[in-house]
Amino acid sequence: MKINKFSRIGFILAAAGSAVGLGNIWKFPYITGEYGGGAFVLVYLLAMLFIGLTIFIAEVVIGQTSEANVATSFVTMSKTKNKNWKFAGFMLFTGLIILSFYSVVLGWILNYVFISFSALPTDPEVAAATFTNLITKETNLQIFFHTIISATVIFIVLKGIKDGIEKVNLILMPLLGLILAGLLIYAITLDSFSEAVEFMFIADWSKIDENALLAALGQAFFTLSLGVGTIMTYSASLPKNANFVKSSVLVAIIDTTIAIVAGLIIFTFLFEADAKSSAGPGLVFISLPLIFSGWGILGQVIAVAFFSALVFAGITSAVSMIEPSLMFFIERFNMTRKKAVVICGSVFYSLGIVALLSMSEAYGPSLTFFGKNAFDWMDYITSSITMPIAGILISVFLGYYVDKQLLHEKFTRFVPEFIFNIWYILIRYVVPLAIIVLFLNKLGVI
Ligand code: PFF
Repeated sequence: MKINKFSRIGFILAAAGSAVGLGNIWKFPYITGEYGGGAFVLVYLLAMLFIGLTIFIAEVVIGQTSEANVATSFVTMSKTKNKNWKFAGFMLFTGLIILSFYSVVLGWILNYVFISFSALPTDPEVAAATFTNLITKETNLQIFFHTIISATVIFIVLKGIKDGIEKVNLILMPLLGLILAGLLIYAITLDSFSEAVEFMFIADWSKIDENALLAALGQAFFTLSLGVGTIMTYSASLPKNANFVKSSVLVAIIDTTIAIVAGLIIFTFLFEADAKSSAGPGLVFISLPLIFSGWGILGQVIAVAFFSALVFAGITSAVSMIEPSLMFFIERFNMTRKKAVVICGSVFYSLGIVALLSMSEAYGPSLTFFGKNAFDWMDYITSSITMPIAGILISVFLGYYVDKQLLHEKFTRFVPEFIFNIWYILIRYVVPLAIIVLFLNKLGVI
């Protein structure tokens, strides 16, 4: 089927838009804080370089070569054209599941944009209660914001790759860059900036254990949007003559830079107020609003800018999560884009409602299974099960079931041969082994 192609810069912006999201600005700083800073950052950078970037390039190769939906891509690219490879398409449903709870979290953030305009909490207990109440008691408010976010995502993807996704990224990504640059400049003027730099770049190995390794690998996957078919699907619209290795490296650099910048900004703010760096997920929702409120009107402006940046980053990621399923339904069942959007939109919207209800006091108990509520299950199943399995599958596929000559030709058209050789060793041996060991470890098998 004919697809509307990105321009090369459109692809880079869209892929970076997918990669840069809540994972960079919310999750990366708080897990870095939990694992003690510098050493974790180093482990994370290594995971990004050797595993994340390798799989990212792998997904781009599959997409750009096959120009089809995820399930079909695996079949057409395999040496034997074995039809069973279509089952690798399971990964595209991961995006819908992530999108359901991601939209709920984006809804919380949108709520904080409004809170920043009106009144930020000035007392630690109120700050904590504002967040806890939102999640456990304010079901209708959450549904309201989840609906706004879902409708925005649906509106954008209805317009398609070029007029929807590419255009939105063309506007939101530079805007995000500007806001973060402004916040970084402000952070640099504060005394605690040097403390934040030290925290993030001087290694303290005491908190690094296998959980930290796992968190770093999981974060590399999540932040580069891997194992979901998103990058593969976007790459199906990457022009054939575009240098896919260079584009991938660029996206990984943009993504990493933004995570580091977000970390520097947030830790500077925290240290400026003598707040703890290990506050976990509440870092952004509880610690930061409290700090901003202490800075008067300037704090309010910064709060609005910060939470808006998070919303922009999140929206460009959210639209990418649904695209693999859309492309699959459109191609496989000859559906119109509109019909595919209605089906996939209804699925993620409803799952999102289940996710948010499962955290409420009223409905939580009936939506909790084996000690985990539905929200946590969706997160667990995607980040700890389907994404790593997809990672193993992609690497084993390219390393063993795709003609090496084909890959060699593709790479050497754009980059020197030694780069291909390094990538091939990584994808064939290092990546599957690393993921399998960490995955089995997490499941408690080894
Ligand atoms: N990379 C996004 C982030 O860091 O927030 C999350 C994400 C986007 C995950 C798209 C998966 C995906 F398909």
